[in-house]
Amino acid sequence: MSATTRFLTGITTSGTPHLGNYVGSIRPSVRASLRTDVESFYFLADYHALIKVEDPARIQRSTLEIAASWLAAGLDPERVTFYRQSDIPEIPELTWFLTCVTGKGILNRAHAYKAAVDKNTAAGADTDADVTAGLFMYPVLMGADILMFNAHKVPVGRDQVQHLEMARDMANSFNHRYGAHFVLPEVVIEESVATLPGTDGRKMSKSYDNTIPLFASRAQLKKLIGGILTDSRAPGEPKEVEGSALFQIFQAVASEEETAGLRQAYASGIGWADAKQMVFERLDREITPMRERYEALMRDPGAIEDILLAGAAKARKLSTPLMTQLRHAVGLRNLRASSSGDGKAGKSGAGKSALPSFKQYRESDGRFHFKLVDAQGRLLLQSQGFASPKDAGAAIARLQKEGAAAWQALGEQVAVAEGASQDDVASALQQLVEAAAAA
Ligand code: TRP
Repeated sequence: MSATTRFLTGITTSGTPHLGNYVGSIRPSVRASLRTDVESFYFLADYHALIKVEDPARIQRSTLEIAASWLAAGLDPERVTFYRQSDIPEIPELTWFLTCVTGKGILNRAHAYKAAVDKNTAAGADTDADVTAGLFMYPVLMGADILMFNAHKVPVGRDQVQHLEMARDMANSFNHRYGAHFVLPEVVIEESVATLPGTDGRKMSKSYDNTIPLFASRAQLKKLIGGILTDSRAPGEPKEVEGSALFQIFQAVASEEETAGLRQAYASGIGWADAKQMVFERLDREITPMRERYEALMRDPGAIEDILLAGAAKARKLSTPLMTQLRHAVGLRNLRASSSGDGKAGKSGAGKSALPSFKQYRESDGRFHFKLVDAQGRLLLQSQGFASPKDAGAAIARLQKEGAAAWQALGEQVAVAEGASQDDVASALQQLVEAAAAA
């Protein structure tokens, strides 16, 4: 059984990646994705972009640029699950399920929505003037992104902490009503990544128009660095590193030794023009190899499209079985299947003897297998061989307790039997989860 922690994060496709995104999000995520004890999910949140971007061409352009940037920065799509939100139709479906268990009052308190309301109130306008239902529902869509893949950890900026609390709330409400389907996700705040200042010294952000695009041309990069705000100290006068945007930008990409070198140069009165030249050269050295990959990728959008579609296929191997189980759990069911379980744990009324069950056995290869059969003895799920009976038993225990979430996690280690459908498996696991919760 996999003991890996699942990390998931989304990037809204509403702009062009800048140096601040690289230092604060792309670089740490690519590094984290190399760890062997984590399973990473990165996706392009293009449904979220629709909430703030009205220009279709900009959405498309941003999707391409962000995908190319992550790949150019070294994200290995074989190693992680890298996909586009709108390629996963289960996400909007789950959004609706979660919508139905989320209190409207909770959404009223969401920061982004409240800020819009406060602004309207201050302007004497109608409370909800210019507020779309999309903005209001933003946290539910985000909850669906996270719960769809039962992510354990979600690395985000501080401004997203409330959304994570809401996602946990949604998971709790759903689990309470329909059985234990969802893991409660935890927020991860990257404390070590300081926010990068922009060219005017404030936080680098599109809304301040002070960004350095990650893949600006060399000439543009030089010009933008030349424009970074400094004080008026003349060459020869010692300079302060404290509060120097130029210094902080250098520090974000340079080694400790290099940083110590610039600190020394500041102290001994380097002129701003020379300091800017140093920063330009260091940044350019960092970016050039990535920029070459980026430009090659941008010239071949079809290749990126294929990478994203392959990522979606990988993601949907997880989202479709979970959605099948969730549909069953809430009562959206095949009418042919006899009604089993009304959702609430312990109220199914079915006797113990009517439950599906697991059978463990040892094959001639010496490995330990199990299968899941329904109450009539029909084969539903077949495991691969486990090294020990303990491993097989642990997988069974997880399936009994977590249902389809465990089915997802086990991946290739279990297969749906010939003649059985995913729906049959989902429904059997659901019965077991309910029975376990009632016991
Ligand atoms: N709301 C996030 C942001 O603006 C983007 C996002 C969408 C996200 N869905 C997510 C982040 C799921 C983490 C998990 O930064």
